[in-house]
Amino acid sequence: MRRLRINPRIRELVRETRLGPKDLVQPIFVDEGIREASEVPSMPGIHRLPLSDVGKEAGHLADLGIPAAILFGIPARKDKVGSGAYDPKGIVQRAVAAVKETTDLAVITDVCLDEYTSHGHCGVLRDGQIDNDATLQLHARTAVTHARAGADMVAPSGMMDGQVAALRAALDAEGFLELPILAYAVKYASALYGPFREAAASTPSFGDRRSHQMDAPNAREALAEARLDVEEGADIIMVKPALPYLDILAALRAAMDVPLAAYQVSGEYSMLKAAAGKGWLGEDRVVEECLTAIKRAGASFIITYSARDFARRAMGIP
Ligand code: PBG
Repeated sequence: MRRLRINPRIRELVRETRLGPKDLVQPIFVDEGIREASEVPSMPGIHRLPLSDVGKEAGHLADLGIPAAILFGIPARKDKVGSGAYDPKGIVQRAVAAVKETTDLAVITDVCLDEYTSHGHCGVLRDGQIDNDATLQLHARTAVTHARAGADMVAPSGMMDGQVAALRAALDAEGFLELPILAYAVKYASALYGPFREAAASTPSFGDRRSHQMDAPNAREALAEARLDVEEGADIIMVKPALPYLDILAALRAAMDVPLAAYQVSGEYSMLKAAAGKGWLGEDRVVEECLTAIKRAGASFIITYSARDFARRAMGIP
């Protein structure tokens, strides 16, 4: 076996999995309440941006060869029904428009209420529980406002039952028949979302997300979730988090024919950054190895907070 490992050129020739900037999607946080970029304490290198910086950042990403960004909004005001999420002039809607004015970067939007509700839950509450069907209506309204703002793809992340069907019906009714849906179909109730919730100030004020996000020990259930979403009209299926769930990704790859996305989440990024910051791991090589593993397991593309830095290195920018 060693003949084909003898030097870097030969290894390159026989490499089974290739990773480049074109495989990556960068998340962007846009904060309605700030005037200057502000670093997320638990995510070194990741900033919440004011609306005025978003177009420029998107331009950088496009120049680096990254095909898409996924936008998350942090509204100046939150309320019980998450009105900021479906406000046609909301922060994400304006950010989408700003990006599309500046570049041809593809814009994916996260469709959920948790960043917009005062209680931090993904939908509207009834008797202390999320009301599934009332929430679907608001998610659908949100997706339509994103589409009108110019989004290239919408990504429902609330794990409500029937969310893909609800979005598809609403988008079609408004004429957005060609807008794809990237379904967070297989989203586990993970402890690795902590740094994101710090960034988006979206930690639930009571309870947790276990009534709708998946239970980590379950694998077969992931197939059921993914099949339902494809039946409802999902164009791409996402698994989240990524590295601890490669078995799930590989199983989906074997069972289904749609493109698969993987989300290397905030906690995965923070763990790497913390170890690298202490000099315990070499960040560049570990990031490349982890992202390659996610692709090897079956991801068509990866949402990762490391996209920008990875692409800079790939282009030889220090
Ligand atoms: C929900 C959403 C979350 C993430 C992406 N979309 C938060 C949650 O479910 O609590 C987490 C992403 C990450 O941790 O990087 N809008």
